Amino acid sequence: AHQAPPRITVIGTGYLGATHAAAMADLGFEVLGLDVLPEKIEMLSRGEVPMYEPGLEELLRRHVAGLEGASGRLRFTTSYEEVADFGDVHFVCVNTPQRHGEYAADMSYVDTAIESLAPLLRRRALVVGKSTVPVGSADRLAARLAELSPAGEGEVELAWNPEFLREGFAVDDTLHPDRIVVGVRSERAETLLREVYAKPVAEGSPFVVTDFPTAELVKAAANSFLATKISFINAMAEVCEAADGDVVKLAEAIGHDERIGRKFLRAGIGFGGGCLPKDLRAFMARAGELGADQALTFLREIDSINMRRRGHMVELAREAVGGGLLGKRVAVLGATFKPDSDDVRDSPALNVAGQLHLQGAQVTVYDPKGMENARRLFPTLGYADSALAAVRGADVVLHLTEWREFGELDPAVLADAVAERRILDGRNTLDAALWRKAGWTFRAL
Ligand code: UGA
Repeated sequence: AHQAPPRITVIGTGYLGATHAAAMADLGFEVLGLDVLPEKIEMLSRGEVPMYEPGLEELLRRHVAGLEGASGRLRFTTSYEEVADFGDVHFVCVNTPQRHGEYAADMSYVDTAIESLAPLLRRRALVVGKSTVPVGSADRLAARLAELSPAGEGEVELAWNPEFLREGFAVDDTLHPDRIVVGVRSERAETLLREVYAKPVAEGSPFVVTDFPTAELVKAAANSFLATKISFINAMAEVCEAADGDVVKLAEAIGHDERIGRKFLRAGIGFGGGCLPKDLRAFMARAGELGADQALTFLREIDSINMRRRGHMVELAREAVGGGLLGKRVAVLGATFKPDSDDVRDSPALNVAGQLHLQGAQVTVYDPKGMENARRLFPTLGYADSALAAVRGADVVLHLTEWREFGELDPAVLADAVAERRILDGRNTLDAALWRKAGWTFRAL
């Protein structure tokens, strides 16, 4: 007999959850998204996205019930009862931030999600964790689920399905993932997840089936590897600087070796954001608990190379203005941790701006999308509405997030606004020759 397609719920509608919910509706499923914040639910129900993510609002508007021309397959709620009644598959997409003052991940949102949902599960359901968690969590959560849900073991089951989407490419990464990894304990769970992901798999995404700990570890390992690549090239940048070499050329040259690859070898002020730095630290903390800390001591070095880049940028700025930052005007282009995002969490750009401010410089920041979030985080910095306004009267200009808009700036126009024509490129993406031609002293990190 033909079975109806599974009905899907998504718990937590942040970055990951909002994108996942919209993508699931786009794949043809009936979807109910839950968040505990009513204002978030109201926004999403109007088809508005609470953050900047290219393509997400369009995708959402195509499906949110009640919007003109929408499929109506996507709805939002704050009620766990509704979610428990509705869903066959429940995706848990809440965040796991770094615990205050520690390296370990804060599991309280995941725990709360499971503990809120489980007691309401009276029918057959698969709960699928997508949050990034310390290895061993899925085991623990499966036991908790069995203990709390009235439908009982066998009826209510857990699976683990880590997420690899990148901010700025969230929609594409979700609809066409590089790979889908599922940690399962039964054939039923695997079959259900194969049904959910049938379309991307048919279009070529590899489907990797494994156990719980491996699924959890894949995520930690992937982000650690990416962080390692970035810190490796940044370490090479330090050596290049000492030896008068060119790290951009070096990266290009080693990248031609397919075993190394060209991606993720952009030297600069290092990695930031809500994932890489915290995942690295949480991974070290968890390995320590497991007695495997020695295996990951190198990650400490990856972290410190990364943090050193920020300090180095501050030193270069100090050097550029003649040795003392006090009262010097510094223009900072970029506030977000990377372009095409409004996310300023652990942003290297804002961190550098903040350090310069603390050392007495007059800092003015401009970012195409991150101004609101930056202001909230660092209200004491100066802000301007455009790159041109930010550089007015500057003793030095710092390029810290590689927005396309900054690559298209006309150095001749900016030259008339600044006090001194000095620019430091913290991302190695500006055209040095162009700036030098317009009379600038140009230095890249
Ligand atoms: C990262 C991973 O790339 C995703 O695969 C993963 O799913 C996600 O974390 C997550 O755990 O949720 P994201 O944080 O969106 O995604 O950003 P990335 O594109 O990885 O960039 C991270 C940082 O590295 C940025 O600050 C970026 O400027 C920096 N970076 C990246 C470099 O400095 N050099 C590079 O060559 C590449």
